[in-house]
Amino acid sequence: MNRCGLLPVVLNLGILISGRGSNMDAILTAIKSEKIRNVKPRVVISSKPDVAGLKVASEKHGVPIEVIPGQSLKGWDYDQKLVEALKRHGVVPETGLVCLAGFMRIISPEFVRAFRMRILNIHPALLPSFPGLHAQRQALEYGAKVTGCTVHFVDEGVDSGPVILQKAVPVLDADTEETLSDRILLQEHELYPEAVRLIAEGKIRIEGRAVSVLR
Ligand code: GAR
Repeated sequence: MNRCGLLPVVLNLGILISGRGSNMDAILTAIKSEKIRNVKPRVVISSKPDVAGLKVASEKHGVPIEVIPGQSLKGWDYDQKLVEALKRHGVVPETGLVCLAGFMRIISPEFVRAFRMRILNIHPALLPSFPGLHAQRQALEYGAKVTGCTVHFVDEGVDSGPVILQKAVPVLDADTEETLSDRILLQEHELYPEAVRLIAEGKIRIEGRAVSVLR
């Protein structure tokens, strides 16, 4: 066990995506270059077929991929298929970590409870501001001068779990949703691998909902 006594020496990683998977790519690249150690990518699962992220996972990184389409399935009816697939690839609650990376579904409470404090998400805003969909558009429409991105543990709410890391990004007068999203995304690609690294190294302590980083 590591310093926290919470996590095993090697974490079995499952990444859930629904699209291009650039955050997934950033995490897998950091593992490949050994910026993140002691994490073994076991599977990338997409809720949509034929998305760009699947090709990146399989062809660039050699990680097994699965597609679990589920427009008609909601809540635990869908998520139990996810949990079965994760387990089939060795991602289990005791030794696993699940990263949501642009996974555009709401996770059921049953899934959260099965993998309590083992599921991470990245959100393109400084939570608790601008949760939910179109966070960058929300920030622009609100007139915020600063927004950013957040990596957090997933709890039973929407974008409401304990915050692990955040990075601020200024909103410029000339920003469109696209330019702001692009600048936030660059920061996401730094922040998400860093959060995974800290967890893998046992450098995260959680008290209540306050997460502190042991440097
Ligand atoms: C990222 O900007 C991520 O923060 C966002 O979707 C994008 C996925 O991009 N996630 C959410 O909005 C979740 N509420 P990617 O597929 O290239 O990683």
